[in-house]
Order: sequence, then C-alpha cells, then structure tokens
Amino acid sequence: MSQVITDAMVRVEDVHKSYGTGAAAVHALRGVSFEIPRGELVALKGRSGSGKTTLLNIVGGLDTPDRGRVHVDGSDLAGLDENGLLALRRDHVGFVFQSFGLIPILTAAENVGVPLRLRRADPREREERVALLLSLVGLADHAAQRPGELSGGQQQRVAIARALANSPSLLIADEPTGQLDAETGHAVMELLRAVVRSEHVTALVATHDATLLDLADRVLELSDGEIVEH
Ligand SMILES: Nc1ncnc2c1ncn2[C@@H]1O[C@H](COP(=O)(O)OP(=O)(O)O)[C@@H](O)[C@H]1O
Ligand SMILES: [Mg+2]
Repeated sequence: MSQVITDAMVRVEDVHKSYGTGAAAVHALRGVSFEIPRGELVALKGRSGSGKTTLLNIVGGLDTPDRGRVHVDGSDLAGLDENGLLALRRDHVGFVFQSFGLIPILTAAENVGVPLRLRRADPREREERVALLLSLVGLADHAAQRPGELSGGQQQRVAIARALANSPSLLIADEPTGQLDAETGHAVMELLRAVVRSEHVTALVATHDATLLDLADRVLELSDGEIVEH
C-alpha cells in the first residue's frame, strides 16, 4: 500500500460521523475533506448544527470518525491508541473553547501553568513560560487575578495563553468569541491572528461571526455536514 506524504498540518479525507443509529441517526459529517497548510489561520464557518464542533473534536483527537482519515502534524490519528491520542492532545494541540474553561480557584498565572504542570516541567521554566505567555496576551499585570476577577475578553486571553503553554503546532478554537461582545471578540480574533504569526502555530477556528472571517487566511464553510465550495 502506498503511503501518501503530506506536509500539511492537517489533512482530513472523506470523514463521516453520525450520532445515534437507525431512523434517529444524525449525520453530523458527510464526507468532509480539506487540508490546512502549516502556519495558516483557517476559519470554519457554518450555521449552528452544521458540524463544526464535531469536526474540531475529530481533528483534535477528542473524538474519532466513523469513516475517513485524519492526519495531524504528520500523525495518522487512526494509528493512535488512547495513550497516543492523549499525547497528541497534550503535546501537539492547544484547545480554546467558547466558555473559556478556566479553573475558577486558580489565578490567571496558575491556569496558564496547568499544562506545564501536567507535563512536569521544571518549576523555574514553568514560571518563565507563564510570564512570557501572559505578556504575549497582554495580561502581565493580571497574573494574580482569578477568572471571576477578569472580564470575558481577559478570560479568553488567559485561555489562549494556556492553550499555547506546551508550544502546540495546532491551535483549535471552537467559537472563541461566542460569549463576547463584537468589539472584544474582534480583539480576541486579532490576538489569535497575531499568535499564529509570532508562535508559528497553525489554527483552525470555528466561528459564525462574519465580521471575523476577514482575518483568516482561508475560510472553510460547513453546511449540513458537508464542505461548501467557494
Ligand atoms: N453528542 C451528540 N449526540 C447526538 N447528536 C449530536 C451530538 N453532538 C452533535 N450532535 C448533532 O450533530 C450535528 C452537528 O453538531 P455540531 O457538530 O455540534 O455542530 P455546530 O458546532 O456547527 O453547531 C447537529 O445536528 C447536532 O445536533
Ligand atoms: Mg459548535
């Protein structure tokens, strides 16, 4: 069997995913294929229910497709067992969610440091990396505040810093501006745009906010589980 060599950061080939069975089955993805070159910021648009979250979860190794192939950073996800997927999520992928997902009792700095603790990074290295990341997202002066003491936009910046902690090659963001007002949301997208350049990361960002699509290198659109050609 021939092996297809791809230099893309993400390669998705004919991916299908259904929830439920029989008459109640929902076909969330119906043969989705695309590639994301390294270093690009790709926006994934589509109405609610079009399959965006399902696709992001599959690309990030949080879920598995029923059919089709997914390659991330050179790995064929089908060839990874649970530990392999865990390592992929820990070492290669950073996740940002609509609801921020910060730990309320930890400070901003401690939240950013969580992935580094999980990897048992040297405490000194961890502190330096956390300080660097907090200044990268413009929150150097807020290190000691807890999520409840930060605005929504600031919380999402902390979440972005945390997602970058282990220097992932791929950043996956699922409607990262969905809980923010338009202006704050735009600033968060501009931050994502900036970190894709400065941290040499590739990003796949689901959003249905049309005003944010201009910042992307490319826009993919999902409609009823299929990629719409532009
Ligand atoms: N865990 C689940 N169980 C059953 N159906 C689901 C589940 N997750 C998503 N779906 C369905 O799959 C389709 C795609 O959902 P989703 O990927 O969340 O879309 P989006 O993120 O674009 O809103 C929708 O019809 C949704 O109701
Ligand atoms: Mg969704």
